[in-house]
Amino acid sequence: MHELLDSALARIESAASAEELEAVRVEVLGRKGVLQALSKDMGKLSPEERAARGKLINTAKQALETAYESCKAVFENAALARRLESEWLDLTVPSPGPRPGSLHPITQIQWEIEDLFRSLGFSVLDGPEVETEYYNFDALNIPKDHPARDMQDTFWLEGGHLLRTHTSPVQVRGMEKLGPPLRMIAPGRVFRNESVDASHEHTFYQLEGMMIDRNVSVGNLIYFMKTLLTAIFKREVAVRLRPGFFPFVEPGFELDIQCLICGGTGCPVCKQSGWVELLPCGLINPHVLRASGIDPGEWNGFAFGLGLTRLVMMRYAIDDIRWLQSGDLRFLQQF
Ligand code: DAH
Repeated sequence: MHELLDSALARIESAASAEELEAVRVEVLGRKGVLQALSKDMGKLSPEERAARGKLINTAKQALETAYESCKAVFENAALARRLESEWLDLTVPSPGPRPGSLHPITQIQWEIEDLFRSLGFSVLDGPEVETEYYNFDALNIPKDHPARDMQDTFWLEGGHLLRTHTSPVQVRGMEKLGPPLRMIAPGRVFRNESVDASHEHTFYQLEGMMIDRNVSVGNLIYFMKTLLTAIFKREVAVRLRPGFFPFVEPGFELDIQCLICGGTGCPVCKQSGWVELLPCGLINPHVLRASGIDPGEWNGFAFGLGLTRLVMMRYAIDDIRWLQSGDLRFLQQF
């Protein structure tokens, strides 16, 4: 028995690696190990012999475990030393600096337009994305059960709330808050319950505009729209007005620009017509003024609703609207 224990001790101490040491541990101290074998025929011994044998085994076990632990510590320390030697960090190397991000193309155009309108005396207003039926529809001359409500697929929420389908409700909030005379724009996110494809998103951006003063004419409207479009496209653009129906304007228009790709001769982008529909607008319907406590006998004005997302897609020739909200860095890093 002493021989067995001595040789076990020797093997532990001569293990050349942590793996070898582990193998020895299993053999010597494990469930099928030497110590276990020595305890096996204890039942056949007399009580005195058994007590003596037990004592011996315990002492031996302790000796083996101590030897094992100290050998193990040696290997562990060596391994740690090797890691410390190979994995180190030079804290004195200058950092590469922050990686600059970039503004989303919608933000870029939005800020450009905000700058332009501020320089023309307009306030930039903000409104809630969760709106009430009143601001989104009723106050804009779209009463309940009127078919015009069906022009916009709406996400309805509880308690008369909805996700605003356009930025037009901010017109109403602007009139209530600031009163006439009024020059305001309101960029923001709007929502439609649409199935998503290359040209439709449930979430997109518009920029609303409104001017209320005395004797505002369609001529004023055209002037501001041409100023806006010249600034955006950085060149003179030809526009035309067609009649368009929106309950909150009368008369209402669709403003088209002459196609910037072909210059008006006809191409796939303008569907061979030479014109691209860009911006609905009109003179504010007197009902809308009245609903916000403004006397249409004294004041009038124009309003427009620019599709910001659409505009970005045109300016950068983006062929799928889904890129804009994708968060895909390959897309975003181009701006
Ligand atoms: N709110 C309308 C829409 O989303 C667009 C619009 C049309 C806004 C005419 C206006 C306007 O201010 O005068 O379909």
